[in-house]
Amino acid sequence: MEDMEARKESIMKTLKKYSQEHLLNGFDKLEESKQKELLDQIETTDFELINSLYNHTREDVKIPESQIAPIEYLDKDKLNGYYRSFQETGEKAIREGKLAAVTMAGGQGTRLGHSGPKGTFDIGLESHKSLFELLSDSLKEQGKKYDVIIPWFIMTSKENNADTIEFFAKRRYFGREKDKNIFFFEQGELPMVDTEGKILIGEDGLIKEAADGHGGIYEALVKNGMTKKMRELGVEWIFIGGVDNCLVKMVDPILMGIAIQKQVTAAGKSVVKANPQEKVGVFCKKNGRPSVVEYTEIPEDMAKATDERGELIYGESHILCNLFNIDAVERMGSKPLPYHTAFKKATYIDKNGNKVVPDGPNAYKFEAFLFDAFGELDDMAILRVKREEEFAPVKNASGVDSPETARELYRKFYNL
Ligand code: UTP
Repeated sequence: MEDMEARKESIMKTLKKYSQEHLLNGFDKLEESKQKELLDQIETTDFELINSLYNHTREDVKIPESQIAPIEYLDKDKLNGYYRSFQETGEKAIREGKLAAVTMAGGQGTRLGHSGPKGTFDIGLESHKSLFELLSDSLKEQGKKYDVIIPWFIMTSKENNADTIEFFAKRRYFGREKDKNIFFFEQGELPMVDTEGKILIGEDGLIKEAADGHGGIYEALVKNGMTKKMRELGVEWIFIGGVDNCLVKMVDPILMGIAIQKQVTAAGKSVVKANPQEKVGVFCKKNGRPSVVEYTEIPEDMAKATDERGELIYGESHILCNLFNIDAVERMGSKPLPYHTAFKKATYIDKNGNKVVPDGPNAYKFEAFLFDAFGELDDMAILRVKREEEFAPVKNASGVDSPETARELYRKFYNL
């Protein structure tokens, strides 16, 4: 008990320094185990980082045009004679067990508004299969085609890890129980702060944290020993995709073949940007390195610029379908990424101990983006694929990129 008091006292000093004393307001009312957990949380919080992130929340990010240049790409439909050669190279590597698939399923899916992990969502097909099962089916089928079991790594967050694993266990891992090549790992988290820069306390009396964005993938793969596991399995290439694209093609010999033959450390897939206003990031070069410029950050004239054929110069949309060499992932996992700010709705306990359920966004969440690490790559091959064959995202509850549009695309593709 005395230990706890001494600890609390020293922690209070830190909190005072950063004006976060309110974090201990409800301390006495917590059970002892929770008290310990809260102190652990505070001790591992990087207050300097949180302060600096908060101080940058009001900055408008605009990238100087001079840093950005178009990136070269290959069109999967126009590979002509090279197609077979890429295919053979890629297939050989897949058959040799050099590929692992990673699904990022740690997001909160706030726009969709589904109560469980997004991967458990039923998009409304006759089969009522969840996104996880659709992905699992596709991976299984590809494995059969190349006579190999492709290991599947699933990134969860602290918030949805237990629910995700329970979901899989109840369904006997969709037939992967025996092959044992399915792995779950948790991504990192960061505290949420209010508009005054105060860290929020959640309903459980602990610091309210949120997943640190899909950019947390590299560090999470390394820290949780996943790349080590992959090396033991003989994996050299890692496909990383989202959980919410029900047409994601995790096993693609052409993409693999291109990466191997062109001797690049990564290869990403793009689809043609539908129009200059579409809310997607596009591949580009930034200071000579591969990158993605977000729709919020690209100057309007660049977004609209076309080439002599009338095609958008910055028209290769990034669809979160990327393949990396394992060395590159480990390198990217050892370097910190910049954080972006999102303004979100977050229920919290105020300084008087009352629960507050806000009507609109009230708190900042800090997220790293997967593509901010691309600058670490020497080069990246971009492969333009057909939207209707590989991109059916489930983002919103209705309208664009909704279960309805994804379902249609899925049915069309599989002739259902
Ligand atoms: P989105 O950026 O679309 O976020 O994630 P989201 O959480 O699914 O949905 P909103 O924005 O809250 O509505 C794209 C992919 O990245 C994963 C998601 O699970 C999805 O597969 N992701 C996102 C993570 O794994 N972790 C994160 O912290 C954020």
